[in-house]
Amino acid sequence: MSSDESKLASSIPLGQIDVSRPELFRDDTWRPWFDRLRKEAPVHYLADSVNGPFWSVSSHKLIKEVDGNNEVFSSSSEWGGIAIADPPVAGEGEIQGQSFITMDEPQHAPQRMAVAPTVAPANLIEIEPLIRERAIDILENLPVGETFNWVQEVSIELTARMLATLFDFPYEERRKLVYWSDLATAIPEVTGDDSIDMKKRYDDLMQAAGAFYQLWMSKIGQPAGFDLISMLQNNEATASINEDPDRFLGTILLLIVGGNDTTRNSISGGVIGLNKYPDEYQKIRDNPKLIPNMVSEIIRWQTPVIHMRRTALQDYELGGKQIRKGEKVVMWYLSGNRDESVFEDADKLIVDRPNARAHVSFGFGVHRCMGNRLAELQLRVLWEEIMRRFHTVELVGDVERISNNFIRGIKNVPVRLHPI
Ligand code: HEM
Repeated sequence: MSSDESKLASSIPLGQIDVSRPELFRDDTWRPWFDRLRKEAPVHYLADSVNGPFWSVSSHKLIKEVDGNNEVFSSSSEWGGIAIADPPVAGEGEIQGQSFITMDEPQHAPQRMAVAPTVAPANLIEIEPLIRERAIDILENLPVGETFNWVQEVSIELTARMLATLFDFPYEERRKLVYWSDLATAIPEVTGDDSIDMKKRYDDLMQAAGAFYQLWMSKIGQPAGFDLISMLQNNEATASINEDPDRFLGTILLLIVGGNDTTRNSISGGVIGLNKYPDEYQKIRDNPKLIPNMVSEIIRWQTPVIHMRRTALQDYELGGKQIRKGEKVVMWYLSGNRDESVFEDADKLIVDRPNARAHVSFGFGVHRCMGNRLAELQLRVLWEEIMRRFHTVELVGDVERISNNFIRGIKNVPVRLHPI
């Protein structure tokens, strides 16, 4: 990172700091900004930004306080939902999309319960062999001796295969799931990219809705399966969501986005972290039993979801600051995971970190990530199989990241493989 960025972060008046600028995450220059907020103002108010005024919550403890208090801090799309950028206004050729991640109680719990069994431990035991088989197939076919992009060949491919399995979606069309997921989060306020063709985005997401509608219809009257669509159809709370286009598309997109970019970027982030800290890579070679703990540590270190937003439903005092009803409150998970009062040497990936699981990457409270066990399973199986085959997945060039303040995305990780 340039020392100019660090100087700027320490000299600019506190009230002007805007940690929502997407380029901070593209350029990986966010560290000094959050360091300063945690130190000087863990509850910080910015009066004016492209996303309007908002509070930033940056310490581990206060993030948990907000996330754990869903009666005061709403996720509902009625108040603005879960991202710092307000949802686009309906009627502007926009996709509204409603799902249980943007619902408060009592609506939220029954919807979540309808799909949760798909990714509950009992079902995961059933799908672990399939995940392993698909991971091995990818790893055995990688171009040893060439430089290639790990993101495309491994991270995206593995998650696409998993999504196709979870949805029982046509396997050969699995890359469409990746495309739709990327599209769902591609809004200018999030990416900072005004050139996105919103008309095409709308048309393509409508195509996604059409494809899933077809899949839905094809399963009616079939014996109940363990895929997500069957689960939705066989639960009273969600059996007729196909009659409400907003909720239908919203729920499907949630399950695709939830399980796609996050896992993908954790797979990519792991390779970056182990290359940055070769002593840690060696620890894993010496003791592969550390892999489950390393997985939690990678999820902490990477923090695939940078923030979640809430809206205060009533006045509330947080960390000595007065938040007013109706104000936007942003929990910066990426910063919470670098909080030195919880994680010693927080910026380092330490594969045997004793409290790696204390991370806030999955959130906390009633909306805590539903797919967290599945994500951990995919990463564990993948790393077990990587370590059986390759001494090193060597990073051989510059990492490229995406401009986005919500998903911490990585698009290029050039690597070369060194088989055992
Ligand atoms: C490393 C990977 C993942 C990370 C970091 C992650 C992160 C998150 C976060 C931060 C939340 C919101 C928590 C909150 O508001 O308190 C969430 C919710 C959710 N995630 Fe994940 N996620 C991951 C993988 C997955 C996977 C594989 C699925 C697949 C089904 C999934 C499905 C969901 C769903 C459905 C919700 C909404 C839960 C609710 O509102 O009750 N996630 N996730």
